[in-house]
Amino acid sequence: MLEDIQEILLTEKQIQARVKELGEEISRDYTGKDLVLVSVLRGGVVFLTDLIRAITLPISLDFMAISSYGPSTESLGVVRLIKDLEESINGRDVLVVEDIIDTGLTLSYLMRNLESRKPASLGICTLLDKSVRRIVDMTVHYKGFDIPDVFVVGYGLDYGQKYRNLPFIGILKPEIYLGENVS
Ligand code: IMP
Ligand code: MG
Repeated sequence: MLEDIQEILLTEKQIQARVKELGEEISRDYTGKDLVLVSVLRGGVVFLTDLIRAITLPISLDFMAISSYGPSTESLGVVRLIKDLEESINGRDVLVVEDIIDTGLTLSYLMRNLESRKPASLGICTLLDKSVRRIVDMTVHYKGFDIPDVFVVGYGLDYGQKYRNLPFIGILKPEIYLGENVS
């Protein structure tokens, strides 16, 4: 796997330090609330498992799975719900935990869907933000890192289901996905 990485963008140490800070911030902000963390399978799971151990409040976890069509390095915003939440979020404080926001198309679909279930509040926590690529405007309440327009893998993020278990975030060598339609 390592030979496919062009450059390490965020080291394991940098990620762990930032996740800890985010956990502390969330713990402060949600004290006394009924916090439900909603994670989007599969990429967000690695971040989620570290994040919850940095949160000092009682929390609930729930999962959604969505699938987006199109080439694997690009999202077209055509999203299908594959797995729904197990529990009701009505009147509860929901924080969506994402690995990365790119165009924002995937998350905007998800937020509209969750909003319709009338949570008390609905927030977004993303580890990575490729804000230069944003098409749909949205408020990101908690953000790990802003990253440039590069395709990254590791720490949950994949290319063709590979590289999720790398402990750092690296830029994938372009020749790995060459031939695909990448912007
Ligand atoms: P969006 O709908 O364009 O915001 O796409 C978000 C989704 O695209 C993420 O949840 C990832 O699954 C995928 N994605 C976007 N950029 C990257 C990347 O650099 N590496 C791996 N997956 C990415
Ligand atoms: Mg994802």
